[in-house]
Amino acid sequence: MLPGRSEFPSDFLFGVATSSYQIEGHSFGGAGPTHWDSFAATPGNVVRAENGARACDHYHRWPEDLDLIAGAGFDIYRFSTSWARIMPEGRGAVNDEGLDFYDRLVDGMQARGLKPALTLYHWELPAALADLGGWRNRDIAGWLADFTEVVCRRLGDRIWSAAPINEPWCVSWLSHFEGHHAPGLRDIRATARAMHHVLLAHGRAIEVMRGLGMSNLGAVCNFEYAHAADGSKASMIAARRYDAIYNQFFASGLFKGCYPEAVLEGLGPHMPKGWQDDFGVIGAPLDWFGINYYTCKRIAAADTPWPALQEVPGPLPKTAMGWEIYPDGLHHFLTMLARDYTGTLPLYVTENGLAAPDLLIDGRIDDQMRIGYFQSHLAACQRAIAEGVPLKGYIAWSLMDNYEWALGYEKRFGLVHVDFETLQRTPKASYHAWMKALEPRA
Ligand code: NOJ
Repeated sequence: MLPGRSEFPSDFLFGVATSSYQIEGHSFGGAGPTHWDSFAATPGNVVRAENGARACDHYHRWPEDLDLIAGAGFDIYRFSTSWARIMPEGRGAVNDEGLDFYDRLVDGMQARGLKPALTLYHWELPAALADLGGWRNRDIAGWLADFTEVVCRRLGDRIWSAAPINEPWCVSWLSHFEGHHAPGLRDIRATARAMHHVLLAHGRAIEVMRGLGMSNLGAVCNFEYAHAADGSKASMIAARRYDAIYNQFFASGLFKGCYPEAVLEGLGPHMPKGWQDDFGVIGAPLDWFGINYYTCKRIAAADTPWPALQEVPGPLPKTAMGWEIYPDGLHHFLTMLARDYTGTLPLYVTENGLAAPDLLIDGRIDDQMRIGYFQSHLAACQRAIAEGVPLKGYIAWSLMDNYEWALGYEKRFGLVHVDFETLQRTPKASYHAWMKALEPRA
């Protein structure tokens, strides 16, 4: 059982999230190529070289999908817009068919009483912009600003909340240092630039949306609790460095107008010229802050160049991603962020969920482990609220099984099962558990 609405403050909202490339099907409707298409087509990057060409075919099946969200009783639908669907070359010409799609989608949300929570960029950069250096190129701040203007002129009057970029750490570090996501670089100079430009682009997009009169604007970052792998001093220092890169860098840039020393000690020489002068734009005032949280890591020192650290396996039960289940980490970030960064600013959990094999047996999926995961993380939220953290909502990842990036379609995060042959949707036990929890208050 999941805790019901009455076990949260009366204005607390619940939602469910997806992203464009992971569900829509990118080969329809005049969308231009993205760097995820080329990344996936390069051998060795993605399990079975799977891509988002068809995905869940949400592009055609969106009414059914919105019915599922509303049918469970969720308040918020967090979705994203595909830049290359709307501007196939990333700049210049607009693909009206693409913009019309999101127009219908947002109307569809409103018709069902759902609050549209827009993310402008959830990772599928138009290939034409990747060719120009993508996130390494400072011009990306202007390109994203122009895209934001196109989208928000059309949709802005009906959007409940908006954030420019999903998970800056993944856009920059994971994709330019670790090479696990598009564009698949392993280059410290590219990383330093991407980490700074992603925040600069965020700030410019916020300015554009404010200029259009939009409100309820925020940012969404991801957080992972970093345990030292053992009691050694070296592991403790390595874990602190991991925490600085992953958890402190972006929050510091957004809310403190500086970057942590523990990160600059490695990235400093590679930062773009004049980066210190950009915090006025980066720190554009926000109305809320979103936390995506899934797991913790065990960090040990490594005999490698900076950041000289490695992840080692931990003892806790793991999800199908191999991620340890650690709800205390969510409580830690909610309290730490409110204390050290965001103060009284409303916080939202903008993603939280787990992947499991989820076998269909006699037409049903009994995903008790997912229900348990939600339960324990919702309890962590309740503890934080009781301690005074201004947490205003919780958004589960994800509505339905979808394209899990470099891991393809095998890792299932959905409350709704998707058969990727027939595209049939089947609500899992967790969907029904949410439906029960979200019944209106008595
Ligand atoms: C974070 C990302 O925003 C989303 O795209 C991804 O599928 C989930 N985490 C699960 O890994």
